[in-house]
Amino acid sequence: MSADHAIPYVKIWGVLLAALFISLIIGAITTHPAAIALIFAIAVAKAALVVTYFMHMKFEARWILLTMGGTALIPVIFWLGVAPDVVLVFGEMDEYPRVPVAMAADAASADAAPDPDKGKGIYEGYCKACHQADGTGQIAGSAMAADFTDGVRLQKTDAELLESISNGSTGDIGVMPGWAASLSEAQRRHVLAFIRQEFGP
Ligand code: HEC
Repeated sequence: MSADHAIPYVKIWGVLLAALFISLIIGAITTHPAAIALIFAIAVAKAALVVTYFMHMKFEARWILLTMGGTALIPVIFWLGVAPDVVLVFGEMDEYPRVPVAMAADAASADAAPDPDKGKGIYEGYCKACHQADGTGQIAGSAMAADFTDGVRLQKTDAELLESISNGSTGDIGVMPGWAASLSEAQRRHVLAFIRQEFGP
């Protein structure tokens, strides 16, 4: 107890507060790298003050480790939680579109009639990883994408579905990116024709 009182807590708190304001002012004036480095240096000095005077390292090291260790674990847990999905979905996307497919060759036939046979390959290359070969959008029982076989989804009009395919769509299951940047309009019509033929009523 008496040792605690020997430490000028209020003064140190004042120093911390002053350091905070100095950092804020520097940050408001400039974002020059040197200024950022200075702000970080001040932060480290502040942390050192806190650790030295306020954290009772000597007596409570176990609790401090527990708190900090627990916090450090959170990103690990988060990573472990999402990694299976990322690996399952994107790991299976051998043909996940990195490069837009030959749109030029296709441009000439932009107004060609939608052809499910042409859509099949597109579906396999671009859509199957999420929507699955059976169109249910389920991987190991969990929904990754819209279920085309639910009897409801494909009741939307061509215009509505093409809008979603082109510009993306967000719903309860999640987000689908738009495909206008990687598939030409004709390709988007072909793949929709394939989806209707394959999974529609
Ligand atoms: C990264 C996973 C993923 C990929 C790849 C994907 N989708 Fe989707 N798709 C989704 C999700 C999630 C939804 C549900 C979004 C919603 O409910 O609006 C969806 C919904 C849809 C819908 C229904 C949209 C609506 O308006 O209800 C259509 C049609 C569709 N996708 C077509 C495609 C086509 C065609 C491709 C390939 C070119 C494709 N999707 C690739 C995840 C994906």
